[in-house]
Amino acid sequence: MGYLGSQSHSQLKKEIGHRKVVLFPFPLQGHTNSMLQLASILHSQGFEISIVHTQYNSPNPRNFPHFTFNSFPDGLVETEHPSESDLLAFIMRLNFSCVVPFRECLQKVLCDDSEDHITCLITDNVWYFSQAVADEFKIPRIVLRCTSISSISAFSAFSSLREKGFLPMKDSELDEAVLEVPPLKMKDLPVVHTKSPGDLPQILVHLDRETRASSGLICNSSEELEGTKLAESRKAIPIPIFVIGPFHKYCPASASSLLVQDMSSISWLNKQRPKSVIYVSLGSIASIDKAKFLEIAWGLANSGQPFLWVVRPGSICGSDWLEHLPKAFLEMLDGRGHIVKWAPQQEVLAHPAIGGFWTHCGWNSTLESICEGVPMICMPSFGDQKVNARYVSDFWRVGLHLEDKLERGEIERAIRRLMVDPEGKAIRDRAVSLKDKVDQCFKEGGSSYSYLDSFTGYLSSL
Ligand code: UDX
Repeated sequence: MGYLGSQSHSQLKKEIGHRKVVLFPFPLQGHTNSMLQLASILHSQGFEISIVHTQYNSPNPRNFPHFTFNSFPDGLVETEHPSESDLLAFIMRLNFSCVVPFRECLQKVLCDDSEDHITCLITDNVWYFSQAVADEFKIPRIVLRCTSISSISAFSAFSSLREKGFLPMKDSELDEAVLEVPPLKMKDLPVVHTKSPGDLPQILVHLDRETRASSGLICNSSEELEGTKLAESRKAIPIPIFVIGPFHKYCPASASSLLVQDMSSISWLNKQRPKSVIYVSLGSIASIDKAKFLEIAWGLANSGQPFLWVVRPGSICGSDWLEHLPKAFLEMLDGRGHIVKWAPQQEVLAHPAIGGFWTHCGWNSTLESICEGVPMICMPSFGDQKVNARYVSDFWRVGLHLEDKLERGEIERAIRRLMVDPEGKAIRDRAVSLKDKVDQCFKEGGSSYSYLDSFTGYLSSL
């Protein structure tokens, strides 16, 4: 593990006593990664770890031999999957169907435990039903926010914008600045696609209320990245807030990958020139239609740069994988492009051949790119991704934003601007400076180092 101290788990355990933390991840890739990384951080601080999880997207216990895993039936049928078109329905569905089985599972964990004192329950903030269960069992609940702190403020702005008549958004106002949450524009607000938009305000109120009722908030970020927004959040949310990220610097995401990572990504990268490759991945949920897929393919081909492209099965509407690609596409490139179903992303971003990351700006991907000093091309899809993209392009200025129509000529130009032009060199230099700044937060006296210390102390006091 990257930045954690050298004391053994048993030495630390002696210091803090027999204390166990129960963690409950939300079953989506970006969320599971963050929660299991947090679990590994806490284990390294001497805590025993128990993971309570849904059967859907369950983590692999073999990758975490020191943890106890407890699964429960979540009520999903085989054909029910989260989709970008209605993530809200998936969230609401699980928050309803998991109440009873989660309560039973937690009760069993609490009863089974003879030796360790259960310190607290840590749940993803998306599990809004879980505060009531924690209250029932009289254990403190701490909330993990897997998104940026900036997106917390952006979600909070929804109700005041609605009251002022700015929502739903009008096409003519999409480029207007949102004065409540600079530097965002109206089009960056974290809209969640859903077939029942009337449910969204109610769920946001729910999420906010249950977070405020909790005993603390953990954010996967750092003061070096989001210090101003953190100060605002502290004023707005009157509970202890611990900002101890980026988590993946302590523990890699590969252990919690829900898909098999194709290691040919690395052997292919080994054959490429330093900083020459653009890595393309749109994360674990976003999907695109056939027309966009083909524009991306031709934009990559025409750019002249080598590329490593993750095409997740099912992410192209109406196809299983690469059926829409012209047959001769890859042969024509003569080894300049490599396409995989899922990559070892952290290792890819750390590879010397990588010169840029074309990303959907999920928060994990954004952090992983920042921590390797890799400049980005942002193509956000929904929710917090739009907020992250604005921060990448306009606030940290470590990337370009593909804001216009997704078209091969635009793509080709964006890749060349980032990878070849002097403008790209300036963006890369800023990306390296930002990486150096974030690196400081893990060193003794750095912000995340100190927060981790106070968080461990706080947990021991519960
Ligand atoms: C979702 C939301 O889309 C995002 O906005 C929110 O911040 C978290 O949940 P997701 O699409 O899963 O995000 O993206 P992201 O947060 O970037 O997480 C993806 C994770 O999968 C990263 O840790 C990344 O390293 C990993 N990954 C991605 C791989 O291991 N291999 C790949 O090929 C692609």
